[in-house]
Amino acid sequence: MKIQEIFDSAIKMGRDADFRSEEEIETFLAKKKKRYEKLDEKGKAEFDKEELNNPYLDSRILHIADDKEIKKVLVGVDIESAEILLAKELGGIDLIIAHHPRGKGLANLHDVMHLQCDILNKYGVPINVAEGLMKERISEVARGINASNHERAVDTARLLGLNFICVHTPCDNLAANFLKPIVEDKAIETVGDLVERLNEVPEYKKAQEIGAGPKIFAGSPDNRVGRITLTEITGGTEGSPKLYEKMAQAGIGTVISMHQSEEHRKEAEAANINVVIAGHISSDSLGINQFLDELEKRGVEIVPCSGLIRVSRAK
Ligand SMILES: [Fe+2]
Repeated sequence: MKIQEIFDSAIKMGRDADFRSEEEIETFLAKKKKRYEKLDEKGKAEFDKEELNNPYLDSRILHIADDKEIKKVLVGVDIESAEILLAKELGGIDLIIAHHPRGKGLANLHDVMHLQCDILNKYGVPINVAEGLMKERISEVARGINASNHERAVDTARLLGLNFICVHTPCDNLAANFLKPIVEDKAIETVGDLVERLNEVPEYKKAQEIGAGPKIFAGSPDNRVGRITLTEITGGTEGSPKLYEKMAQAGIGTVISMHQSEEHRKEAEAANINVVIAGHISSDSLGINQFLDELEKRGVEIVPCSGLIRVSRAK
C-alpha cells in the first residue's frame, strides 16, 4: 500500500463507523464548500483544500519523504521526536503513524468537535442546546491548542527523512462503533455490570493488568445504568461540562468516556449521571486496532509503540 492509500482507507473506515449518516457527513462538507466558493481569489488560495474532502481535519498526511510501497509501520498513541528517533534506530520503518494529532492535524483538532453536537442530538439533546454549549467549548479548545508547538514532531520526521501521518477521529469513531453493541445490551443492569462487560474487551483487560482498566468516576457499582451513551469516545476532545444537566434531562443515565477532567466529573455527578471511564490509551488502542487490522490484512507489518496495546482481530 502507498501512503495516500493507507490514509484514504483510514478516512473511509472512519466515515463508515461515524455515528452520523453518510448524508450528514456530506452536508457537513457541503457547508465548507459553500464557504470556500464565496471566497475571493486570495481567500481561495489561502483556504486549506483538505477541508473540502476530509471530514476529519485532525487526521493528516504530515510528511512524505519517500512515496514508496509501505511494508512496515511504527504506530503509537503519541508520536514525538523520541518515537521518530526510535523509528530511525529500529530501521526498516516505511511509515510512522501517530494517533494523537500532530502538525496541521493538531492545529485543526477543534474542527472535529462539531461531531459531538450530532452525537448528543442522536441521544436526545436538542441540537440548539448542543450547538450552543459546544460553540463556547470549541473556541476554548481552539485557543488552547493555539500555543502548541504543532510542527515539532513533523520537523524531526522531515530532518530524518521519514514518512509521517496521523489518524485520530477515524480511529475514535471505530472505537465508539465497537462499543455500540455493548451499550445497547439490555442485560447490563448496573454500572458494575457495565464495567464487567468492558473488562471482557481484550484492550481493557490488558489495561486492567497494568492498573489502567475501566473505572467508575461518578456513581456507584450498584447504580442502575439507565440509558448508556457513547458521547465521549469520539469528537476530538472533551465537550462542555455544562452539557451534563442537559443530558440528564434528555434521559441519559450513564456516560462511557475515554477520560474526564475533574470539572467534568463534578458536573456529571451533580446531574446524577454515572460516569465510567473506559480508559484513555486503551480506548485509543481499541480504535487504532480496527484500522491496523485492515493494514495487516493487506500485508503491512505493524510495530506498536508509545502505549499502543496491539490486539489483532485480522485473522
Ligand atoms: Fe486519545
